[in-house]
Amino acid sequence: MNTFLLLCLAASSLAIPTKRVEKAVPYNALLPNVTIYATGGTIAGSSSSNTDTTGYTAGSIGVQVLIDAVPEITNVSNVAGIQVANVGSGQLTPSIILDLSQKIQKSLDSGDSGAVVTHGTDTIEETSFFLDLTVNTTKPIVCVGAMRPATAISADGPMNLLQAVTLATTPKAAARGAMIILNDRIGSAFYTTKTHSNALDTFRGGDAGYLGLFLGTKPKFFFEASKATGKPFFDVSKTKELPKVDIVYAYQGLDPKAIVDAAKNGAKGIVIAAMGAGSFTKEGNAAVEEAVAEYGVQVVYSSRTGGGYVPSAGYAGGVAGGFYNPQKARYLLMLAINAGYTHEQLVEVFAQ
Ligand SMILES: *[C@@H]1O[C@H](CO)[C@@H](O)[C@H](O)[C@H]1NC(C)=O
Ligand SMILES: *[C@@H]1O[C@H](CO)[C@@H](O)[C@H](O)[C@H]1NC(C)=O
Ligand SMILES: *[C@@H]1O[C@H](CO)[C@@H](O)[C@H](O)[C@H]1NC(C)=O
Repeated sequence: MNTFLLLCLAASSLAIPTKRVEKAVPYNALLPNVTIYATGGTIAGSSSSNTDTTGYTAGSIGVQVLIDAVPEITNVSNVAGIQVANVGSGQLTPSIILDLSQKIQKSLDSGDSGAVVTHGTDTIEETSFFLDLTVNTTKPIVCVGAMRPATAISADGPMNLLQAVTLATTPKAAARGAMIILNDRIGSAFYTTKTHSNALDTFRGGDAGYLGLFLGTKPKFFFEASKATGKPFFDVSKTKELPKVDIVYAYQGLDPKAIVDAAKNGAKGIVIAAMGAGSFTKEGNAAVEEAVAEYGVQVVYSSRTGGGYVPSAGYAGGVAGGFYNPQKARYLLMLAINAGYTHEQLVEVFAQ
């Protein structure tokens, strides 16, 4: 790709309007208000082929087109769309998600019944986890995506979106924290993770399971509303920028320089995607010790296994990651450093 094209692409992604788009249907005072925050992803993806589910362009359809594709939504809620980005979710950044959290707090505080975020599935668990920890509300925040682009046969996006808006207006969905809805399954943002690169049933909560499921457009919950054990809250209403936190993946023969380099490059925190229940190489632990002593970074030992609990860190100055997978541990560490947590407070918040 030439430089001119790259510049055009950069300019067009900067030019995304973030103003509220009201639907052109009459306002119905009997229905609740929901704002749909659109960020892009496969749900807004398109391809020239209707059988293409891998080579499509994510984030190419605007929020109004997504809403218009599901007229049933107008019977459930008065929706307004805000396009906060239109990209594959790997392109989203902590500053975009911080801004999204602040926007959602405002729209919920000013009378909306719930919020919906349309999102690429690749990092939807990071965004929804961040929102879960930073928006002070009992109203439902529902993150939704799709595994098949909007142009595919059997696209899953329209039904997912209708279920998401429905969930955002469901009284029984209150006080359950942020949620992820895909493939008829309602998952808690706190525990849910993407477990398969291609399949529709990719989102799972591991040992924590699901909160409930959809029968058509009717949500059914397995339990009464409850809060995830030890879930902290972080006030980011005045935060302008979050500290840099990196992830270092553990493997046989890892060059431990990656850890000191991360600290040298300005990381205030490092999450180790360690092996098993938090084990790491001898050289890796020594590099952590060096990075902690020289740069004052906070290091969390999470696990690359995809499930289970990390009870202890490989190095005494490190923090054991508990149930948090590396990508969730990263946002938790970022928020905790931002809030000025001491090392002892970090140990406690991760131990939940
Ligand atoms: C909305 O509900 C009415 C009454 O049940 C029904 O007649 C109409 O077809 C529905 N509209 C859509 C778009 O589902
Ligand atoms: C819902 O939105 C309408 C139109 O924007 C507004 O007039 C109304 O006050 C809102 N309702 C609540 C409860 O915020
Ligand atoms: C959350 O908001 C409520 C008011 O809606 C307030 O009373 C409470 O202190 C807030 N909690 C935090 C942790 O900021």
